[in-house]
Amino acid sequence: MSKTIFITGASTGIGRAAAELFAAKGWNVAATMRNPEGSKGYNDQSRVRTYRLDVTDRVSIEAAVEDAIRDFGRIDAVLNNAGYGAVGIFEASTPEQVRRQFETNVYGTMQVIQALLPHFRGSREGTIINVTSVGGKVTFPLYSLYHGSKWALEGFSESLHYELKPLGINVKIIEPGVIKTDFYSRSEDFINSGELPEYQDYVKVVRSSMQSAGANGVAPEAVAASIYKAATDRSNRLRYAVGSPAPWLLPLRKLLPERWFFAIVRANVEKK
Ligand SMILES: NC(=O)c1ccc[n+]([C@@H]2O[C@H](COP(=O)([O-])OP(=O)(O)OC[C@H]3O[C@@H](n4cnc5c(N)ncnc54)[C@H](OP(=O)(O)O)[C@@H]3O)[C@@H](O)[C@H]2O)c1
Repeated sequence: MSKTIFITGASTGIGRAAAELFAAKGWNVAATMRNPEGSKGYNDQSRVRTYRLDVTDRVSIEAAVEDAIRDFGRIDAVLNNAGYGAVGIFEASTPEQVRRQFETNVYGTMQVIQALLPHFRGSREGTIINVTSVGGKVTFPLYSLYHGSKWALEGFSESLHYELKPLGINVKIIEPGVIKTDFYSRSEDFINSGELPEYQDYVKVVRSSMQSAGANGVAPEAVAASIYKAATDRSNRLRYAVGSPAPWLLPLRKLLPERWFFAIVRANVEKK
């Protein structure tokens, strides 16, 4: 019997690439997204069903989980991928922007996991794959809210992996580097204010280097391949860093004294 993966944020980028890859490997895919009406068709349409799910809307999560279990019989893995970056000047952010960042990236993931746990617990197996980021372990300027959310997700996921292991449920963390997706354009919530001139030179320099990194990022298919590995390698490995700079920057963060590491970040993102 084919296995089934439940994916959040499957409309574009990493989520979509994962949906295509799992379907190509013979899995059923419950591809969830905020606007299924607007989604492009998948290569292997016979294996993919789309469902409406907004991770900030608990009713939509419960409905999508129930419908997917009814349609496919069971769910073997969940990919918590939906997320975006609130990027810019922290002082300029509104309470709504702060709340939405955490409601999407952190509480959204938690709500999806809670909706699926009774199912996984009942079958005494299941794999939870959370997409964090290289930015869940290291930081760059102007990403304070995003990093806050992804660092939270890292700690949450790591602790959860102990608790669920005795129930036969695995937790996996995917840490992408810079990936060429809508993350740096359509999906970004850019936070700035004309009333804060003191920040503007810095914002201009850092934003331009981050945007150009995004434009030269790694293809989302590379992340999809790591997600597939995490879902199928049957190992106890928790973390999968994928896409430059994640696989070398994360070890460097552990090796170098903090101020050397910060100097490297500055030299790379604060250059004019
Ligand atoms: N790109 C990178 O460099 C990078 C690096 C590290 C980690 N990541 C992480 O990778 C994940 C996927 O991002 P991506 O790079 O593939 O960017 P993307 O193409 O912008 O995809 C983001 C996806 O999240 C969905 N989403 C946003 N808010 C949602 C909500 N409230 N409910 C349900 N879905 C929601 C979007 O849906 P809509 O189509 O409806 O907007 C879209 O499907 C994110 O968690 C991101 O933080 C990305």
